[in-house]
Amino acid sequence: MSAIRVRPGRVDEAAVLAEMANDLNDHVGIHGRPFTPERIRAAGFGPHAAFTAWVAELDGVVAGYVFFGPGYNTDVAARAIWLYDLFVAPAARGRGVGQALMAAVAAEAVRLGCVSLDWSVHTANAGALEFYRRLGAVGAEVRIMSVAGERLRALADAAP
Ligand SMILES: CC(C)(COP(=O)(O)OP(=O)(O)OC[C@H]1O[C@@H](n2cnc3c(N)ncnc32)[C@H](O)[C@@H]1OP(=O)(O)O)[C@@H](O)C(=O)NCCC(=O)NCCS
Repeated sequence: MSAIRVRPGRVDEAAVLAEMANDLNDHVGIHGRPFTPERIRAAGFGPHAAFTAWVAELDGVVAGYVFFGPGYNTDVAARAIWLYDLFVAPAARGRGVGQALMAAVAAEAVRLGCVSLDWSVHTANAGALEFYRRLGAVGAEVRIMSVAGERLRALADAAP
């Protein structure tokens, strides 16, 4: 019987977190591998962290991670948690690690008085969609929009 433990990621795990985060991007067809240990340290740790990083250990070895942060559910006007990333190393899949990560973040959401866990998923990611469906998640027909780089700067230049 495998032992699964979910705990906060440590700053000295920035390299393994960067590796897994890049692997997740590759999995969904984003191939720039933008994560570096430095970027993980800057964005995931310290007083101005952009997200919280938790890892799952399977038999004492880091086998997956989740990035999450504060969110707000405007459907019901109440606090929520927004999930940025969820990933389990291929060799560890199908053994409850992903479910354990989601359950741990759900417990944190309940502890903080949040009404929901929310996230986006690529519509082509059939395996993840089925995984989420089994967790009791329901999907909404929304499109994620993003303005970046030069276009972001151009929009910012139009600020009154
Ligand atoms: C999706 C992912 C996180 C699932 O993690 P996992 O550790 O393999 O999942 P678990 O073992 O905890 O599975 C929990 C349940 O979901 C089911 N499940 C998991 N992956 C599944 C898949 N690809 N297809 C169908 N069912 C799946 C399991 O069979 C299990 O069902 P059960 O409770 O009825 O037995 C993992 O496959 C992964 O990292 N995928 C690549 C990255 C990714 O797509 N991340 C999500 C980005 S939005």
